[in-house]
Amino acid sequence: MAYFDHNATTPVAPDVLAAMLPALTEACGNPSSIHRDGQRARQMVETARRQLAVRLGCSPKEIVFTSGGTEANNLALSLPARHVVTSAIEHPAVAQTLGRRDAITVVAPNRDGLITPELLRAAMRPETDLVSVMHANNEFGTVQPLAALAAVAHEFGALFHSDGVQAPGRMAVDVAALGVDLYSVSGHKMYGPKGVGALYVRKGVELAPQLFGGRHESGRRAGTENVPGIVALGAAAARPLTDTAELRDRLEAGILAAVPEAVVQGAGAPRLPNTANIRFAGLEGEALVIALDLRGFSVSSGAACSSGAVEPSPALLALGLTKTEAKSCIRFSLGESNTLDEVEALIAAVSAAVAHLRKLSPTYV
Ligand SMILES: Cc1ncc(COP(=O)(O)O)c(C=O)c1O
Repeated sequence: MAYFDHNATTPVAPDVLAAMLPALTEACGNPSSIHRDGQRARQMVETARRQLAVRLGCSPKEIVFTSGGTEANNLALSLPARHVVTSAIEHPAVAQTLGRRDAITVVAPNRDGLITPELLRAAMRPETDLVSVMHANNEFGTVQPLAALAAVAHEFGALFHSDGVQAPGRMAVDVAALGVDLYSVSGHKMYGPKGVGALYVRKGVELAPQLFGGRHESGRRAGTENVPGIVALGAAAARPLTDTAELRDRLEAGILAAVPEAVVQGAGAPRLPNTANIRFAGLEGEALVIALDLRGFSVSSGAACSSGAVEPSPALLALGLTKTEAKSCIRFSLGESNTLDEVEALIAAVSAAVAHLRKLSPTYV
């Protein structure tokens, strides 16, 4: 199988696994214990904290380890706020968390999938205390102008959170330069394991903890640390980035040349270098996912977390697509193991599968 679904999850890199193993086998202590076994585990956790801090451009004290991106988002967004502003293209880990609030304004992106500073400004109110806009979209990869958006939020005295889960595995991130107050990351989108993540919390921002118990993570997140997961996240953060832009561009160009009526979503905006979301008029995305699976390629339609759901992705609808159009989109997300040969084979497979499915379609003429 050739794997083109890295936005759903990345494989654990061999060097990350190698770094993680001693935390499963040798460092048996609890990081809160004062004996040497405990202190060994504590050292490993703090090394990982420094590695992630270097990657994000912050101080290690500003990192809170969590069980993943979902928990990081929930933790950030449990802050009290009189009015919250968010975007219409957020992952459910943000959309569902904020959706429970009464005073919320959801900003639709422009046709390219961008929340511009002007769109955000129009949604702000004097009592807006919290703004949450994702860094890079998981479905079509558009990268938001975070520095400008954070500046607008701060003008109104609001805190700015960003769901950064899709970004650090694919692009350089500097939270200080971006000016964000809170930033969520996840291990399994950057060649680390599933079930570990972190929240960057700018010095001076008081969190509202959600888990109560011991004084772990400086009282911000109770629970014995997931030492192996944290060590792996640190190792993942210390890895160099692989640029997949050339392969992604070849994939898009090849598909657009070979398949009539194929349209790239978010093409007019800055995008992650690994993501191509393409709409194929006249067919169901799910059918193409299955057809490509049978030909040896893993891709996805809509967000992986909601696969199996018959409803089209809200983020794609927010781009202005109709339900039928949104259901005919496929996401190809590349990673460091993909090769040019795989990309060429995928172009040929997509071309053949789309032609076959369109022939069977009662609506495509
Ligand atoms: C943008 C975004 N935010 C949050 C999450 C959730 O992260 P996790 O799976 O680590 O809970 C995902 C995972 O699909 C994501 O793509």
